Amino acid sequence: MIIKTKKTIPASEITDPYVFKERRKIIKALLALTAMGSGIVPVLADNKPRWTNLPESSFSADLMTTPSEIIENYTNYYEFSYNKHDSTKLAQQLATDPWSVEISGEVEKSGTYFLEDILRQQTLQEHIYRFRCVEAWSMVIPWVGFALGDLLRKAQPLSTAKFVKFTSVYRPEVMPRQKQNNMLEWPYSEGLRIDEAMHPLTLLAVGMYGDTMPKQNGAPLRLVVPWKYGFKSIKAIVKIELLKKAPTTSWNKFAPGEYGFYANVNPNVPHPRWSQNSERLLGSGFFTPRRETELFNGYGEQVAGLYKDMNLRHFF
Ligand code: MTE
Repeated sequence: MIIKTKKTIPASEITDPYVFKERRKIIKALLALTAMGSGIVPVLADNKPRWTNLPESSFSADLMTTPSEIIENYTNYYEFSYNKHDSTKLAQQLATDPWSVEISGEVEKSGTYFLEDILRQQTLQEHIYRFRCVEAWSMVIPWVGFALGDLLRKAQPLSTAKFVKFTSVYRPEVMPRQKQNNMLEWPYSEGLRIDEAMHPLTLLAVGMYGDTMPKQNGAPLRLVVPWKYGFKSIKAIVKIELLKKAPTTSWNKFAPGEYGFYANVNPNVPHPRWSQNSERLLGSGFFTPRRETELFNGYGEQVAGLYKDMNLRHFF
């Protein structure tokens, strides 16, 4: 793994333009190799990596996935727009290659790593998870990714690391809403407790539906925490910091009474302006009844133990 110093100059400024362009091809080849190593057949068509027969995570839910056109065209990406269709279109402006991620704070080995170097050390799997938004809709998405804990362990967290803060990219020149300071604080940031971050359900995703991550869905690297409301699943991550204390996070800072730090899916704790006890299944027919929302989005068996002594109404 290439470890650079903290104050790294963006690779685009220091790399020969030819090498710079080639990096994308290298990432694709690496993704293909990762796949081949585990007997998977990568299909490289349209200059895009695709995977068939990815190993499936043992945590995958046995659920019918939502059609990809729905999740790709109905996105929450507030750096671009508050409108779910406009954000999809505008996100295409974001250059996602090259990409590096800083891992720092309470760790033995901090550094800034190219995404391809991170991926070289990870085994990708398909994880079929239900994704529940705080706005009371849900989808079932086959993510391609790896456990966040596997990456954090490589940085060797110190015993003082109690929380993890994630920060999205800050590019006001292509992200129009970042020029406005009337809502969320930029860059978008989120946080988890260290045990939540280390839980094997918590993913860093680089793709979905067997393909690379669409820009509007958080390319090239996003978090997925399936038992929490979707706003915790931060997109376009550039920094992961291990901290002694809980970080402030964008939504919690904006409206602490509406968006708690924990944000565990919980039908018994309504949002102040709407109920959370049922959800609209995106992609379902007009007459399909709403689904009853499950505590921890149905992942209680795996994660309830993380919160056994906590009052979930208070720590919502
Ligand atoms: N990450 C960033 N950087 N910016 C955002 O606006 N929106 C969040 C989350 N991650 C958001 C983000 C919200 S509110 C949700 S519901 C999910 O991303 C939506 O993910 P999707 O658009 O892929 O469905």
